[in-house]
Amino acid sequence: MKFQTIIEPFRIKTVEPIRQTTEAQRAAALEAAHHNVFLLQAEDVLIDLLTDSGTGAMSVYQWSGMMKGDESYAGARSFAVFESAVRDITGFAHVIPTHQGRAAEHILFSTMVRPGDVVPNNTHFDTTRANVQDRGGVALDLPAPEARAPHSAHPFKGNMDVEALERTLVDNPGRVPLVMITVTNNSEGGQPVSLENVRAVRDVCTRYGVPLFIDACRFAENAWFIKTREAGYADFTPHEIARAMFALADGCTMSAKKDGMANIGGFLAMNDPDVSLRCRTRLVLTEGFPTYGGLAGYDLEAIAVGLYEALDEDYLRYRVRSIAYLGEKLTGADVPIITPTGGHALYLDAKRWLPHIPQSQYPAWALSLVLYVEGGIRAAEIGSVMFGLQSDGSERPSDFELVRLAFPRRVYTQSHVDYVAEAVLHVGTLADRIRGVRIVQSPPVLRHFTSHFAPVADRLIAR
Ligand code: F0G
Repeated sequence: MKFQTIIEPFRIKTVEPIRQTTEAQRAAALEAAHHNVFLLQAEDVLIDLLTDSGTGAMSVYQWSGMMKGDESYAGARSFAVFESAVRDITGFAHVIPTHQGRAAEHILFSTMVRPGDVVPNNTHFDTTRANVQDRGGVALDLPAPEARAPHSAHPFKGNMDVEALERTLVDNPGRVPLVMITVTNNSEGGQPVSLENVRAVRDVCTRYGVPLFIDACRFAENAWFIKTREAGYADFTPHEIARAMFALADGCTMSAKKDGMANIGGFLAMNDPDVSLRCRTRLVLTEGFPTYGGLAGYDLEAIAVGLYEALDEDYLRYRVRSIAYLGEKLTGADVPIITPTGGHALYLDAKRWLPHIPQSQYPAWALSLVLYVEGGIRAAEIGSVMFGLQSDGSERPSDFELVRLAFPRRVYTQSHVDYVAEAVLHVGTLADRIRGVRIVQSPPVLRHFTSHFAPVADRLIAR
């Protein structure tokens, strides 16, 4: 290529101002939010990297599609548009719209999972795990060993441990109603899964007669990593690779808030007519009529366009590159991060960065608070607050203590990324002085969303 710079492949037509705040204002806002960034007011955040879910910018084509939304209760034309896009990309025959990914999970698991069943996944996302457990099932994580080496350069650290899957199926005959594989593997650093691994998982599922479902939230980013890292796929389009991946599965759950490029939406899709009929019956109880699920006609239109835009090569190249660029700036300054950088996010490794804070004092949570106070950046902990609480009420330290900087799609530019790098490097100068936190009050499940915290010392950053 003649030029090296990978530019944002869009220009900006509408802007949304972001508000500068002072450090004192942010400290006060954090206090009022009980030291939980989920409880902040968004307008008090400068760069919001809490999630890439539903936070993206829509294109002119999506907005114009929305104007065509057919809001008929039944048989809306917008459903036909949506169904045809989902079928074209996934190849699955039955398409069930839901208001977001977890609704698809809830409907699927309440149809397929019985108490005592085991659901293997490379790594469950938190809502997926909670939905399996809500059915009395066991959510079993089977990440490949390479996923557990945070700094290895393995290209597909999101893979599933195929041998462990086979052992699980041998040990639990009749108790595994489905196997899931999450692409990319969000809870293991946004790392991709190779097509070779999906194929191996498929073979095991076929041998044991168990259906395979893909948690497809970031299917397009995963396809890009296959194209750029897996031998033999360089000449395939992301669309072709996605099709090849879905062809290995029996169905998928999807949050269109990620690679659907929409602000809300999701779907469940599959080939089995009987299971899909039972799912649709549940859909009518909890979401809505089968041709709109939990969505407006205009949402279905936005997703139908967004799914294709997520597969655009210029977009994927820019997206993955901008996160790798941040990663290079941070590793260049010896900030410990998970490498290689993932598709939707960069993960700071608080266990290595703040070794003086014991896991019982939630180092990654503390780091996320300091990032906010110092830089106005909001990011999510993926560590012992999110995963430490066991279903029997006991506490077990998580394997990882990460802070995830998740990038909304098409929202921030390179100067925002430069600012984030500068702020993270500044936090690095304070690292030794950062103190841990304790939980003051918390709900029984998904506690990271609403718990209240306090610094263990009198200040978050010692003088
Ligand atoms: N599966 C994965 C892998 C996810 O990352 C998410 C959401 C879901 C399922 C649930 O989808 O939010 O539409 O109900 N992840 C968001 C995140 C919330 O921040 O990573 P949903």
